[in-house]
Amino acid sequence: MKKTQVAIVGAGRIARVHWMALRWLPEVEVIAVVSRTRQRAEDFSVRHGIPHFYTDEKQLYRDHPELQSVHICNSNSAHRDSVIHALDAGVSVLCEKPLGTSSRQIQEMTARVSESKSASQAVCFPYRLSPTFQKFQSWVSRLGTLRSIRVSYEQSSWIRRQSESVGWMPDANSYGPSYVMADIGCHALDLVQALAAASGSGLNFSMQSAVIDYAGKPSACSDIAASVSLEASGGCIAQVEVTKASQRAHNKISIEVQGEQGTLSCENLFSERIEFRGADGRQESWDRGQADSRTPVPDSLSFPLAHPEGWFSGFANLFEAFYRKGSLQTPTFAESLRVSEWIEDAFRQASYRDIQERLTRESTR
Ligand SMILES: NC(=O)c1ccc[n+]([C@@H]2O[C@H](COP(=O)([O-])OP(=O)(O)OC[C@H]3O[C@@H](n4cnc5c(N)ncnc54)[C@H](OP(=O)(O)O)[C@@H]3O)[C@@H](O)[C@H]2O)c1
Repeated sequence: MKKTQVAIVGAGRIARVHWMALRWLPEVEVIAVVSRTRQRAEDFSVRHGIPHFYTDEKQLYRDHPELQSVHICNSNSAHRDSVIHALDAGVSVLCEKPLGTSSRQIQEMTARVSESKSASQAVCFPYRLSPTFQKFQSWVSRLGTLRSIRVSYEQSSWIRRQSESVGWMPDANSYGPSYVMADIGCHALDLVQALAAASGSGLNFSMQSAVIDYAGKPSACSDIAASVSLEASGGCIAQVEVTKASQRAHNKISIEVQGEQGTLSCENLFSERIEFRGADGRQESWDRGQADSRTPVPDSLSFPLAHPEGWFSGFANLFEAFYRKGSLQTPTFAESLRVSEWIEDAFRQASYRDIQERLTRESTR
C-alpha cells in the first residue's frame, strides 16, 4: 500500500508531538520537516528518521509534488503564510491553533481554500477529541435545554517563569497580539462551541463582556488572565475563565454544563471523570480509569479502557479522523474564525486590570 506522504512545518515542541501521534497511523509517512534554522531542521530530521529537511517551504513543495498533506506547527504569527503556501501547493492542511493572529487572516485563508486543490483542512484543537471530552459531549443531550456552560482553563506558566527570570514575557513577534486568549482562551472557546453543537439546539453565542488582566499596561501579548461571558439568543450563558497565573494548577480544564434536566461536570478533563446530577435527584458518574466493558465508550476511541490518555490521545484521535475520515469531525477553519471573532470582541469590550495588583490583593486576603 502506498503511504500518505506528509511534511511537518516547524521543529519545536509541538512538531514533536505531531510526529509522535502520526506514528500511530501506519498508513501515513512523514517525509520532510521545515524549520527556518537549518541546524534545527537537520537535527529534527535525524532524530526522528525523517528523510528530508528544508528551510524553505516553497522548495519543499517544488521538490515533492507527491506530498499530500502538511502539519503546520510553527509559531502563531507564521501560520498565515504557511497555510497559504500549502493551499497554493494544493496539499491538505492541518494547522496548529490559533489558526491566525486575527480574524482577517483567517478569512483570507478561508477564501484561499476555495481557489485551492487542497482536499482537507483542519485546526488542531485536540481537547475536543480527547476521550473524556467525547464522553462528556455524548451526555450533553441528557440535559435538555441548556442554561449555562462554564469552561475554566488554568495554567501556571507565567507565574513559574516569572520566578525563573524576572520580568519574563512571551514574545509578541511569535505569539501575535494576545498571549492567554490566543494560547488557551481559544481552546476554552472551542470547547464552548463544541458543547453548543452537541446540545443540538443551534446555540449561537455572542460576546457580552470581558475582564482582562494584563502584566503592566495593556499591550501586545501581555494578557495573562481573562474572564469572558457570552450569551446565546435563547438565554443560555457561557462563562470562560482562563489564566496563565494559576497558583493551584499547572494545567487544568474544568467544565460544567447546566440544563433544564440536570448538570454535567468534569472537575479536571485530565482526570477522566465526569458526573451527572439530574434535576430529579438521580446521579451517575463515569470514570475512565474504572470503566469496564459494560460502560459504553464512543466507538471512535481506539484506545483501551483504564488507560489515562488525555491530551496526547486528543492529537492521535484528531489525526485519525483527519486521515481516515471516520465518524468524528475535525475542527474547521470556519469554527476557528468564530473563536477568533469572539476573542477580538472580548478585547474590544474588555475592562482591564493589572494582574500583579490582583495577585497581591488575593494573597493578602
Ligand atoms: N494544540 C495544542 O494543544 C498546542 C499545544 C502547544 C502549542 N501549540 C501551538 O503550536 C505552535 C508551536 O508551539 P511550540 O510549543 O511548538 O513552540 P516552539 O517549541 O517554540 O516551536 C516553535 C516553532 O516555530 C518556529 N518559529 C518561531 N518563531 C517563528 C517566526 N516568527 N516565524 C516562523 N517560525 C517561527 C520555531 O523556530 P524554527 O523555525 O527556527 O524551527 C519552531 O520551529 C504554536 O502555534 C502553539 O500555539 C498547540
